[in-house]
Amino acid sequence: MMSQNHQDLYQDIDHILISEEQLQQRVAAIAAAIEADYAEDEDLLLICVLKGGYIFLSDLSRALKRPHHLDFMGISSYGGGTTSRGAVQIIMDLKQPLAGRNVLIVEDIIDSGHTLSYLRQNLLARQPASLKICTLLNKPSRREVDVAVDYIGFDIPDEFVVGYGLDFDELYRNFPFIAVLKPEVFAHLNL
Ligand code: IMP
Ligand code: MG
Repeated sequence: MMSQNHQDLYQDIDHILISEEQLQQRVAAIAAAIEADYAEDEDLLLICVLKGGYIFLSDLSRALKRPHHLDFMGISSYGGGTTSRGAVQIIMDLKQPLAGRNVLIVEDIIDSGHTLSYLRQNLLARQPASLKICTLLNKPSRREVDVAVDYIGFDIPDEFVVGYGLDFDELYRNFPFIAVLKPEVFAHLNL
């Protein structure tokens, strides 16, 4: 592994793509859009897609002024590398039924679209009253499967990003911004 401690992790950064301030402003705007779209007395269940969605979910949840419930789902679609193999696995399922609920999936990033398209079908089969998708980041140029997304934080170019929940090899999730790593960090991979 390239980096051993916190300080070293910051040395792996090539550049910051989205600053902490930009993230916070966008999260507030998305929360306002969600508040406008759901009636005040309507039930709303946010589903956090783990692990990558954990920071976005916690900021979005705190920015939402309306009541809502939370549940968590563990999904694995990647190995240790940086490209999707299209294979999606549920490694931890929801704790509650979705029938009749207004469900909003909270995801870190949509890349090929395989993960969300699988998740969408899987959750629709549980017959929620409504199902919407919210993603912090979107890489439109990488799409292999079409997925309708209701809320998008930022469209980004085809670059592998880390921070604000997103990892490379399970590291860098704790960066408070979205960053691109130096090419040499990936040098040991056969991509
Ligand atoms: P998809 O199935 O190709 O859309 O991939 C979605 C999942 O791949 C996300 O939930 C992330 O876990 C992971 N992913 C895709 N792009 C990136 C990236 O740039 N950085 C970190 N993780 C990524
Ligand atoms: Mg993920």
